[in-house]
Amino acid sequence: MLVLPLILAAGSLPTFVLGAPVPSTHSSRFGLTVALTRSLTERSADAYVVYSGTGTVSDGWPDTNAWVSSFDTMFNNNRGVIGGSCAQFGVPNNSDAETDDIFNGVNQVSNETGLDARFILAVLMQESNGCVRTPTTNWGVRNPGLMQDHNGAATCNENGVQNPCPRDTIVQMIRDGAAGTPSGDGLTQCVAKTGASGVSKYYKAARMYNSGSIDSSGNLGLGGSTHCYASDIANRLTGWVTAPRTCNEGTIGSMAGSSGGSGSNGNNGTGTALPTGPRAPGASASCSQWCTVQSGDYCEIIQQKFGISMAQFMSWNTELNAACTNLWLGYSYCVRA
Ligand SMILES: *[C@@H]1O[C@H](CO)[C@@H](O)[C@H](O)[C@H]1NC(C)=O
Ligand SMILES: *[C@@H]1O[C@H](CO)[C@@H](O)[C@H](O)[C@H]1NC(C)=O
Ligand SMILES: *[C@@H]1O[C@H](CO)[C@@H](O)[C@H](O)[C@H]1NC(C)=O
Repeated sequence: MLVLPLILAAGSLPTFVLGAPVPSTHSSRFGLTVALTRSLTERSADAYVVYSGTGTVSDGWPDTNAWVSSFDTMFNNNRGVIGGSCAQFGVPNNSDAETDDIFNGVNQVSNETGLDARFILAVLMQESNGCVRTPTTNWGVRNPGLMQDHNGAATCNENGVQNPCPRDTIVQMIRDGAAGTPSGDGLTQCVAKTGASGVSKYYKAARMYNSGSIDSSGNLGLGGSTHCYASDIANRLTGWVTAPRTCNEGTIGSMAGSSGGSGSNGNNGTGTALPTGPRAPGASASCSQWCTVQSGDYCEIIQQKFGISMAQFMSWNTELNAACTNLWLGYSYCVRA
């Protein structure tokens, strides 16, 4: 499980991730595996799916109809994390009133900017976990507050900790991140600069907000700063709160081209002698039979289809995690060696 109190990347970047995934307080359901494309209701469960590629639905990224159904629901799902999130910075936790001010502030700024409130909240959670007293960071650009925005004025933790954090300051921190500041872009400008019209505009904008630009390949797992940032945002939008973050900063960028298309790979238990998709990382070099993961597949189904045990599947695909929650859609896994 990845639990980092601070994820700070070097370089002169507009924003940084301060908010870390909070460890799950409940044991994850053993049976809750993969499903890279779950049904819509299942998909807004608290789980993490690794998304690679360009942020488009055709690359397997979630469309808006797979997002948590409403801002209110998403906020309530995150309320517990928000309420305890200042502990990582060693400052007093939010009061309930301060957390309510975030709820109202995101709604207000959503109205002002026209940005989906869920998107603003996803970035806010990513940057600060919702701690109103998140400290300012500065790695070449000053990044204050809830959204770790581009040199905005509002903060409740710079040259002293403010407790309580005033409502106007809370709203302004959200506005600085969403609407931008005189010094630099906010989410609004990032979305506009993507030039995209579909849901990928949010994932691309997340990449830009984190590192200032998108890699020339279009791969959102490449470029500066936090490689899993856009994948994290997609997961937050689809219900991730405390489940283990299975994205690997080191490999996400090499996972380009995962496909969300429903398969014609013949994954019926027969398999193929050669991989029909990109080889999954850690797949056995002496593999004799391959299965390319299709929409709706998950580990138990693949094991059943091919009559293999979990231990065998794991031993032939060594990068699978213990809970088998990081199966990649469109990739070929070894099912016989
Ligand atoms: C803040 O909340 C966290 C999580 O609930 C808790 O562990 C911590 O003790 C709290 N800190 C303070 C100062 O109350
Ligand atoms: C959004 O702002 C408009 C005015 O620009 C107002 O009429 C409307 O009630 C606001 N909606 C919400 C949900 O605050
Ligand atoms: C399973 O898929 C393979 C590969 O496409 C195909 O050759 C085979 O005929 C299929 N078998 C069944 C029983 O459908």
